[in-house]
Amino acid sequence: MSISVAMIITASFILYMKHTDFVKAYQAFDLYASLVVYSASLEEKHEARASIMKVGIRPQKMSDAKRFWEILSNPNFTYFPMNVKSPEEEEQFLRQSEQRRKEGSEFNFAILCDGNVVGGTGVRINFYFPHIGEVGYFVDEAYWGMGIASKALRQVEDYAFRKLRLVRMELILATENKASEQAAINCGYVKEGVLRKRIVVNGTYLDCYLYAKVVE
Ligand SMILES: CC(C)(COP(=O)(O)OP(=O)(O)OC[C@H]1O[C@@H](n2cnc3c(N)ncnc32)[C@H](O)[C@@H]1OP(=O)(O)O)[C@@H](O)C(=O)NCCC(=O)NCCS
Repeated sequence: MSISVAMIITASFILYMKHTDFVKAYQAFDLYASLVVYSASLEEKHEARASIMKVGIRPQKMSDAKRFWEILSNPNFTYFPMNVKSPEEEEQFLRQSEQRRKEGSEFNFAILCDGNVVGGTGVRINFYFPHIGEVGYFVDEAYWGMGIASKALRQVEDYAFRKLRLVRMELILATENKASEQAAINCGYVKEGVLRKRIVVNGTYLDCYLYAKVVE
């Protein structure tokens, strides 16, 4: 909705005010206001919503299992290796995840948007070279394209570099996964190469890009 359109609507309203009584004008204004709201494009509403959303991360909890399952059992997660096949397996994953956090090998987080769980992210420490972490993330489809993965990635990276003192963060994503690639680029990750047949999704081997960021 451009400012000029809003000005034309306001001007029409003022003119209308001169030719009718207040009650009618008020009703007219109500109608105009609805038109203003409904004429904003979906993209503009999306942007407006995204700009005021508060995104944060916190360690995953057992009680996240149901919500994670709801998000992850989405057939549109085309390039995401889905290792969990039921809500029970998700609970089991979270139990193991708690254990791995204690051992210091994996640090998983829920992504919160205005206090609601909308995704997950985490960093897995390389067993042989513990200065390296591999990061991953997923976001509920209803929230795609609002910058949530990019914001969460910055936060998990901050945790990894500052708190865990990692020196290198790696991101491995299917070459076709353009949204994930763009989130990596948004956060300053640099493409280092192609890893052929690196992941398996629904029985198919997929080539991946290796993106990374290092502490200079
Ligand atoms: C990948 C994923 C996490 C991105 O989440 P998101 O919150 O939508 O990401 P962001 O909004 O921060 O960034 C996505 C960017 O990709 C862009 N994008 C989305 N689809 C795209 C496409 N097909 N081609 C090019 N760019 C695309 C968006 O416009 C956005 O760019 P912008 O920030 O410059 O506007 C989400 O799509 C997801 O959960 N997918 C399924 C799981 C998955 O693949 N995880 C990654 C495994 S490596």
